[in-house]
Amino acid sequence: MSVLQLSNVTKLYGSFVAVNNISFNVEKGKILSLLGPSGCGKTTTLRLISGFEVPNDGAVMFSGVDMKGRRPYERNVGLLFQDYALFPHMTVRENVAYGLKHRNFDKAKIPARVSEMLSLVKLKGFEDRRPGQLSGGQQQRVALARALAIYPEVVLLDEPLSALDAKLRQELRFELKEILSAVDATTIVVTHDQEEAMSLGDSVIVMSGGKIMQQGAPTDIYTNPKTRFVAEFIGRSNWFTGRLLPSSNGLAEFQSGSGLRMVVPVPDGSVNGTTFDVCVRPERIQINGIGQPSSLAPGNEMRGTIRDVAHLGADLHLVIEIPGGQLLTVTEKYVGQALEQSGQEVSVAFRPSDCIVVPSGS
Ligand SMILES: Nc1ncnc2c1ncn2[C@@H]1O[C@H](COP(=O)(O)OP(=O)(O)OP(=O)(O)O)[C@@H](O)[C@H]1O
Ligand SMILES: [Mg+2]
Repeated sequence: MSVLQLSNVTKLYGSFVAVNNISFNVEKGKILSLLGPSGCGKTTTLRLISGFEVPNDGAVMFSGVDMKGRRPYERNVGLLFQDYALFPHMTVRENVAYGLKHRNFDKAKIPARVSEMLSLVKLKGFEDRRPGQLSGGQQQRVALARALAIYPEVVLLDEPLSALDAKLRQELRFELKEILSAVDATTIVVTHDQEEAMSLGDSVIVMSGGKIMQQGAPTDIYTNPKTRFVAEFIGRSNWFTGRLLPSSNGLAEFQSGSGLRMVVPVPDGSVNGTTFDVCVRPERIQINGIGQPSSLAPGNEMRGTIRDVAHLGADLHLVIEIPGGQLLTVTEKYVGQALEQSGQEVSVAFRPSDCIVVPSGS
């Protein structure tokens, strides 16, 4: 049975639909990443689960039990807010003990539990400090220890790493994953960072305008987005817009508005009279010397001119102009090869199976 289940949950503020008929499950010990642009309803979804908001419609269930009518303190939820809101006048020890004291946890056992949580988040020795005497990353860990201390049935983390700089964020992302797995927490992590969502989540939900646009394993969402919105939200992409011509063998001929022809997989549903957008991820495009056979044949090949080469550590990011003037973004692994030069004529190639076809305007 799922530890957390939302069924057709809707939340209105006046006539504004903040959360629009969403349903999903989270299984025991799994992490679900909730991803989407600012204002799409992520925090509202967490507030509905924790009981700070009441749905206008639908149900929130914990291990099969309907939470209707239960106040926040009657739900076994460990919460970490968007700004992690530690109590500034309390010590680290008092902050972590807070939830335990307010939930009638056996008083004699509180010190041991606090100590256990502080070793989990690697903050032993910091017990008597106040939040103002800690770095951002340390405060974040105290907030996490506080959320996990109460043996929560469900853990809700709202942008847990957003207050941190990029390097610390990456380090803590890995630590956070380890800590959650150590306590087998059933977790929802809200983020608007797609890399974070994909690296933390066993599954990912992409939201927009209060609705779930797509849900799946991180790799599935990246390689098989159903709409342009999801494809653009998860990772970088190159786009062509055009029409599909009659097909065979599960493949179709695609003709772009600028006259490019390529072979693509046939999308689900009708292809007649509809415009499609084709997405090709930058790392799926191969660059060859002119006249050099493509290792991706039989595929899609076109001439191009390199307009920019940027060497970013392990990766090369190239901008290539193709016939019609469109600029493609291409990434290559940098393994010490001679760098392509701006102005160089090349041919670019990609497999039909590397093309993602979605309805235009989706
Ligand atoms: N109490 C409220 N009254 C009216 N509208 C609200 C209220 N709370 C949230 N909203 C609106 O509901 C929508 C969803 O808000 P929410 O806080 O869930 O967004 P979010 O996805 O968490 O965004 P962010 O990434 O910026 O945190 C927004 O348009 C917001 O303005
Ligand atoms: Mg929010």
